[in-house]
Amino acid sequence: MSRYKSYQYIENLSDVVGKEVTLRGWVFNKTGKGKLQFVILRDGTGIAQCVIFKGNVSEEIFEQAKALTQESSLIITGTVKKEDRAPGGFEIDVTDLEILQLSKDYPITPKEHGDSFLIEHRHLWLRSSRQHAIMRVRAAIIKAIRDFFDGNGFKLMDSPLLTPNACEGTSTLFETDYFDFGKAYLSQSGQLYAEASALSLGKVYTFGPTFRAERSKTRKHLTEFWMVEPEMAFFDINDDMDLAEDLIEYIVQYCLKTCTRELATLERDTTKLEKVKRPFHRMSYSEAVDWLIKNKVPLIQKDSEGKDVHIHPFPWGEDFGTVQEEAIMEQFDKPCIIHRYPVGAKAFYMKQDPENSKVVLAMDMLGPEKAGELIGGSQREDNYDLLLEKIKQHDLPLDEFKWYLDLRKYGSVPHSGFGLGLERTVKWITGAAHIRETIPFPRTIYRITP
Ligand code: 4AD
Ligand code: MG
Repeated sequence: MSRYKSYQYIENLSDVVGKEVTLRGWVFNKTGKGKLQFVILRDGTGIAQCVIFKGNVSEEIFEQAKALTQESSLIITGTVKKEDRAPGGFEIDVTDLEILQLSKDYPITPKEHGDSFLIEHRHLWLRSSRQHAIMRVRAAIIKAIRDFFDGNGFKLMDSPLLTPNACEGTSTLFETDYFDFGKAYLSQSGQLYAEASALSLGKVYTFGPTFRAERSKTRKHLTEFWMVEPEMAFFDINDDMDLAEDLIEYIVQYCLKTCTRELATLERDTTKLEKVKRPFHRMSYSEAVDWLIKNKVPLIQKDSEGKDVHIHPFPWGEDFGTVQEEAIMEQFDKPCIIHRYPVGAKAFYMKQDPENSKVVLAMDMLGPEKAGELIGGSQREDNYDLLLEKIKQHDLPLDEFKWYLDLRKYGSVPHSGFGLGLERTVKWITGAAHIRETIPFPRTIYRITP
C-alpha cells in the first residue's frame, strides 16, 4: 500500500464491475431530462457515464446533479456496470455525489472555437479530449525514448541550458545577461556537452528543452522544444543511421501497442504507422538532388520584393526546404534518411566525408505524411586541425570552444550522434495539425502566455 491516498480511477473500472466505487473528477458533459441526469465524468485517466436516477438518490442530491455545469468538480459514488454503448464502456449507477466547486461559464464549450481562442485558453484547452489524448501520447513517447536508451546501455547525461556559445548557428540565439561574464545563451542543443560526456561514459543521451529564436511561422517550429540527443563514442555515420532507425521504429511500435485508445480518440490512421518498420529508405543528398531535378522540383527563393522565385534545375549545394522534403517523401510510406549534405549547408562540427571533401557525414531523417525533419545528426569532426579551421571559418569565438577542441586533443575517437525533436515526433504520431498542440504550453514567436 502506498502512503498517500489511493483513489479509484476510471481506467481501472473493468476490475470493479458490480462493485461500488467513488470517483473524483470533473463534469465533461451533462445531459438529462425528467427523472434522469447523465454526467460524463472525466478524472484524468478516462471518461465514464454516470447515471443519476431520481428514485435512487435523495431529493437534495438529485437537485445538485441537475445544477451541475461543465467542468464543475465533484466526488461521485455508485455501482459500476459494463455498458458498451456508454462512452468509455462503463456506466455508474450513482448513489451519492458531492460537489467540490460549481464551475460558472466555462469558456470552452462543445461548440467550435477558433485556433487563437483555444491557444489563449491553453490552460483549459488541455482538458479537451483531443488535447488530453495528445498529451498522453507525448508521455508515452517520452517513456519509449527513455526505455529504448536505458535498455541499450546508454547513460542519461544532462547538458546545461545556460551556455556561453552557439551550437546550431548564431542567428537563433536567445541571450541573457550573466553576471560578470557578459552574455549567456539558452542552449540550442545539448550536443557539444554530450560529446564530452560520451568520451567519458561511451554511450550517452541528453534529453531536455532547447531554445531557438526562430522567426519561422510554420506548423513545425517552436522557440522552446524538447530534444533527445544520443552521442556515441566509436560510432560512425552508418552506426548512427542504424540507431536512428531502431529508435523511431521502437517509438512508433510502442505507441501502437500502448496508446490504442488515444490514437482512436485522435482518429489517427494507424495502418500508416504500422508500416513504420525497418528497413527505412536512405539516399544521399546528391541522389536526392538528382531526383528533384528529374521530377522538376525547383528551389524556391524570395526576391528583393519578397516574391517567390522558382529556380530550375535545383542547384546542388542548397539546403532543402519544406517543398523539396515533402516532394521527396510523397513517394514513401516510411521515414527516409538523407545523408552526406554539402559542407556549406550544415553545422561546423560535422565531419568531412573522407571520400568527398564537398560533403559532410550528416544525416537527416524525414518522416512520411508531411512530418518533415524528425532527426538531424552526423559523425563529428574528430580531427583537431580540421575542427579548428571550421570554427574559424564559421567566425565562432575560439575562447569558448577551447574545451570542445580539447576533446580532439586528448584521446580523440570517431564519434557520432543525433537529435530527435520530441514535438515533431508527437505531431507525426498523433496526426496533430500544428506543433503547438504537441507540448503543454507552447512557445512561439507569437506567444509566451499562458
Ligand atoms: O537538426 P537540428 O538543428 O540538430 C541539432 O540540434 C544537433 N545538434 C543534434 C545532434 O546532432 N545532437 O535539430 C534536431 C531536431 C530536428 O530534426 C527537429 O526534429 C527538431 O530538432 N527541431 C525543432 N523542433 C521544433 N521546433 C524547432 N524550432 C526545431 N528545430 C529543430
Ligand atoms: Mg536539422
